[in-house]
Amino acid sequence: MTSQELRQKFLNFFESKDHKIIPSAPLVPANDPTVLFTTAGMHPLVPYLLGELHPQGKRLVSVQKCLRTGDIEEVGDNTHLTFFEMLGNWSLGDYWKNEAITWSYEFLTDKKWLGLSSDKLAITCFAGDADAPQDSDSFKIWQKLGIKTERIAFLGKEDNWWGPAGQTGPCGPDTEIFYWIGEETAPKVFDPKDRRWFEIWNNVFMEYNKTNEGKYEPLKNKNVDTGMGLERTLVALNGFSSVYETDLFKPLLDYLISQTNFKYDLYKIKIITDHMRAVYFMVADGVQPSNKDRGYILRRLLRRAVVYARQMDIPASWITGLLQKLQIVFNNVYPELNLQSELIIKVVNEETQKFILTLDRGLKEFAKLNKIDGQIAFNLYQTYGFPWELSRELAKDKGQIINKDEFEKEFKKHQELSRTASAGVFKGGLADHTDRVVRLHTATHLMNAALRQVLGDHVWQKGSNITAERTRFDFTHPEKMTEEQKSKVEELVNKWIDRDLQVKREVLSLEEARKLKAIGVFGEKYADIVSVYKVFDPETGEVISCEFCGGPHVEHTGVLGHFKILKEEAVAAGIRRIKAVVE
Ligand code: ALA
Repeated sequence: MTSQELRQKFLNFFESKDHKIIPSAPLVPANDPTVLFTTAGMHPLVPYLLGELHPQGKRLVSVQKCLRTGDIEEVGDNTHLTFFEMLGNWSLGDYWKNEAITWSYEFLTDKKWLGLSSDKLAITCFAGDADAPQDSDSFKIWQKLGIKTERIAFLGKEDNWWGPAGQTGPCGPDTEIFYWIGEETAPKVFDPKDRRWFEIWNNVFMEYNKTNEGKYEPLKNKNVDTGMGLERTLVALNGFSSVYETDLFKPLLDYLISQTNFKYDLYKIKIITDHMRAVYFMVADGVQPSNKDRGYILRRLLRRAVVYARQMDIPASWITGLLQKLQIVFNNVYPELNLQSELIIKVVNEETQKFILTLDRGLKEFAKLNKIDGQIAFNLYQTYGFPWELSRELAKDKGQIINKDEFEKEFKKHQELSRTASAGVFKGGLADHTDRVVRLHTATHLMNAALRQVLGDHVWQKGSNITAERTRFDFTHPEKMTEEQKSKVEELVNKWIDRDLQVKREVLSLEEARKLKAIGVFGEKYADIVSVYKVFDPETGEVISCEFCGGPHVEHTGVLGHFKILKEEAVAAGIRRIKAVVE
């Protein structure tokens, strides 16, 4: 089965169970400075899991682009990936364990859908602890469906619980579905430690809210959140043993191998393909290489791939070649990528060229070193741009192990990496909805409208990030803004603030929203039913701004304060960035 067939089957199946299809949210969470990347299908749904009404209803299904860097050292084995796609279905206070589990089983085993053999399935359920009881309901439902008791294991929180690790928020027990990929007949008794039992799907039952005090309180609305790994499930369906055999990877591997004169290290080729998929999607969603946060992760992944390619003497044109292959692999799935393909190729090549300038000097310097410690690894990073993984691997070739903590201590000292960056992955945190952030969010909508008035309709949002200190807004515009244009934008926004315009959320069909000329993020796909925020004059009916957005916003603009642009600069060819405040 191909990846596109599986995506489509999953969406069709849940659509037949009255779910509404929602499009993938961007890889970079909109207006959420507390996290770096979208790491699960549930991430964009957190406000709705906490009780806000979703415009599409209570049953949702999606294919979500995800990125996790927590397992980066495992990448190159059969299953671990940085970028991956997650198939997920949700009940927002609607159906519960019985439907969720029964549908999972039906989708996996019914010949009309995936037709996997139920003899090869095994299940884990939550064993219970001081916070929450054993999930015997899920156990019984699986038994009723015909899963043998020996094939169901009860495990603790570290395995069968999903939710905020150490933080507050919705969480609960989960039941995970494993498929036997071994060559021998599946053993009668399930051993969760045997890697040939391959996890493909997780059903989470979000019935608790973890409070500040660390208590687990029952949630008013019980939600179901599921996640099925697209790449992993393709392995199970096709009788493969590794994600690299799927149609998502094979053309990429074949292409790289064809560039090597057939002397290559397959493990490194695999890592290059994984990392470049992540790079491709990150740049498409507005991430630019930098020494901080998302940009630093992008840089690390790209540099590691570049070094490996050089070690195998792959000609430099591989970057463009591989990115073009990626465009073909995802062509019909995320059509918005096509709009950006040239930009992606340009950004990635420019960054690579900068790195290569220092790489060879760095490698020579490295060869001279006798002993490499964390401090030296950090200096190599500072001087030659060597990411941590590269120094670690080069040191390993010399039979040395570098202490990662030492490197990170130095890194933090110098770069003051933000708290979120060091946390690295999404841990169920919520968007920052403090008063300042909400005000800046509304001001950003006004600025977007003002930019379009002053500069023209070619202005489209490419990304935004709001913290309590400032809003950062990236948009398409070919040249530097003049002082006069900046003043005009400030004047317009402040005029709208002084008029104390009304701000209102509306839930509309996509068609109605388009009629209202609602604007959104460049190239993003929207669902059939959308939430928009309108800023308008209640007396004249004049609409100043109408944007696709989930909020939250202030109710009227008078409370925003004085708007000021701090900085306007280039981020990439054709993309400008503004940082602004309200005081
Ligand atoms: N949110 C759950 C997961 O990512 C479904 O496994």
